[in-house]
Amino acid sequence: MRILVTGGAGYIGATAVDVLISEGFHVSILDDLSTGHRTAVHPTATFIEGSLLDPASLSQALNGCEAVMHFAGKSLVGESVEKPDLYWNINVNGTRALLDEMRKQEISQLVFSSSAATYGAPEEMPISELAQASPTNPYGVTKLAIDEMISQQTQDFGLSAISLRYFNVAGALKGSRGWLPEKHNPETHLIPNLLKSTELKPIHMYGTDWPTPDGTAIRDYVHVTDLVQAHIQALRSLEIGKHRIINLGSGRGYSVREVLTATASFLGRSVPHIESPRRSGDPMTLIADISQAKEVLAWVPTRDISSMVADTAHSLEIV
Ligand SMILES: NC(=O)c1ccc[n+]([C@@H]2O[C@H](COP(=O)([O-])OP(=O)(O)OC[C@H]3O[C@@H](n4cnc5c(N)ncnc54)[C@H](O)[C@@H]3O)[C@@H](O)[C@H]2O)c1
Repeated sequence: MRILVTGGAGYIGATAVDVLISEGFHVSILDDLSTGHRTAVHPTATFIEGSLLDPASLSQALNGCEAVMHFAGKSLVGESVEKPDLYWNINVNGTRALLDEMRKQEISQLVFSSSAATYGAPEEMPISELAQASPTNPYGVTKLAIDEMISQQTQDFGLSAISLRYFNVAGALKGSRGWLPEKHNPETHLIPNLLKSTELKPIHMYGTDWPTPDGTAIRDYVHVTDLVQAHIQALRSLEIGKHRIINLGSGRGYSVREVLTATASFLGRSVPHIESPRRSGDPMTLIADISQAKEVLAWVPTRDISSMVADTAHSLEIV
């Protein structure tokens, strides 16, 4: 079976390509390398360098495919606040173009990278898929708009789709070509930034006065290898005419201080950091309810925070 992986030169997409190829899938990649890396492109995949918004590239990329894993898009919350139109254009219009071309080429199977950012800051924890979606930034708004668009197209044109709402993805896979690191620029994720923190450029720990056991905010982290496994199980669980929305996290929370401690313990030294005031808009706690993933995908996360820290460190050669 040939599958199109959009964003297959990015952090999660490249990891998915590696696993798909090792499981015997044929893979085509569509990526414009705007945040992805040429070196991350798997040598045996068919690579189309181009944008979702370029009809010729899209049509060529989908040629001969039976399914799509759609990772491509913009995903920096701060940048989305500065450039909401760019986020709407690439994420929403790009996905609309993808769905239109899939329909033209009669490709109906889709697994989409949605996000916990669709929920905003719900009060009830853990967050189930039934929680009111109320995104607090343009990035989350685009992911919610895409989920709604996929639901509509599933009804109208009989797509088989699953949107996977990721919480915080971390770690790395040592694949057939070595480590596949997370290389965002700027990097906004906690674990790589803790690992890169130095006395000269210490990481800021925003908010140490939350009413949590250690005063810092709590988030849910999932290892990228577990996450990719869930995509493969999602692909196998697609049902004609159905769009499911499923959370992916580990189902447990780690405080910022716990992640810092895990990092220090891995490094065998303290991690330089500055305790700073809370950032506006940051919720106190975000933890996924992953019962749907367990039930529908028969998936359970297997890697904990220490392996996410260790694998990130190895992949970034910080050891
Ligand atoms: N990393 C996380 O913790 C996380 C959490 C929730 C959701 N997600 C979602 O997962 C997906 C992958 O995230 P990532 O961390 O791998 O990001 P990434 O930036 O590493 O990968 C995105 C890829 O999409 C490509 N791309 C961007 N715009 C494109 C376009 N117009 N046409 C073709 N390709 C384009 C980029 O070049 C890049 O290779 C994104 O959709 C993101 O919103 C990620």
